[in-house]
Amino acid sequence: MSKVILHADSLNKSFGAVTAAKNINVEVEQGSVLGLIGTNGAGKTTFVNMITGYLKPDTGRVIFDGKDITDLQPRDITRLGICRSFQIPQLYNSMTALENLEVSYSVVSLIESHGSLFTKLDKAIPSYNKTVKALAEEALERFNLTAYRDKTARVLPGGVRKLLDIAMAMAVRPKILLLDEPTSGVSAEEKFDIMAMVMNAVKDGSTTVLFVEHDMEIVSKHADRVLAFYAGEIIADEPPEIALRDPKVIEFIVGETQAKMLQGAH
Ligand SMILES: Nc1ncnc2c1ncn2[C@@H]1O[C@H](COP(=O)(O)OP(=O)(O)OP(=O)(O)O)[C@@H](O)[C@H]1O
Ligand SMILES: [Mg+2]
Repeated sequence: MSKVILHADSLNKSFGAVTAAKNINVEVEQGSVLGLIGTNGAGKTTFVNMITGYLKPDTGRVIFDGKDITDLQPRDITRLGICRSFQIPQLYNSMTALENLEVSYSVVSLIESHGSLFTKLDKAIPSYNKTVKALAEEALERFNLTAYRDKTARVLPGGVRKLLDIAMAMAVRPKILLLDEPTSGVSAEEKFDIMAMVMNAVKDGSTTVLFVEHDMEIVSKHADRVLAFYAGEIIADEPPEIALRDPKVIEFIVGETQAKMLQGAH
């Protein structure tokens, strides 16, 4: 077994009468790719929020690389190497695609130069030894976004916005990347390409990826492990070929029809 990079230890979270997380226990191995599935309101985003510091669990701990990060603020967790995208892309709408990426790489530069407030956009990032602009251009290429370089983020199509958001999250070269529905709001034809592009850009063997996804074909294609959420609980934690055939997962999440289709596809 390779190194456990992340440990969600007995997490519980309620909102009034709603149990959004119930005794969640997950150990994630470095370099693995986890697909998080579950119907609306099952607790997927709550889980992502607790790992990234946006929500504090009522009880339980989040351990990253041996360090208890439960009480840290989101920005400090990002600094340690856990990054995320949101269900709705968080872009600077009045800026171009290139400028959005430059902002991300500037933040990296700012962090790496020990918090200097005078970092300029053309400054080289110490660990990359390249300028922010060069890195932003490279990221555009890596994510196949060069055609949108000078377009204002506001006018970009849904799929492109998703990719740009993920490219920005990748600027810090995270150890763990959490993607909350990277393909939602994207057309069926575009979805597969987007996910393939994202996995290609992030899969260097050491980045650990957790992605929330409703499309089971995408899950079975890209995840090497599935966490199935139902009413705040994890009802299955198995490789996709087992999890997607689990009777509870079929009953509560996948449905008979889709389960048959998936089995046919294997
Ligand atoms: N800030 C909040 N305040 C109150 N209730 C919340 C809050 N965040 C989540 N919930 C509730 O907790 C439950 C789990 O929500 P969560 O957003 O984690 O679900 P999800 O699995 O991400 O669903 P979806 O697929 O719709 O994104 C839901 O019943 C939701 O209404
Ligand atoms: Mg959600």
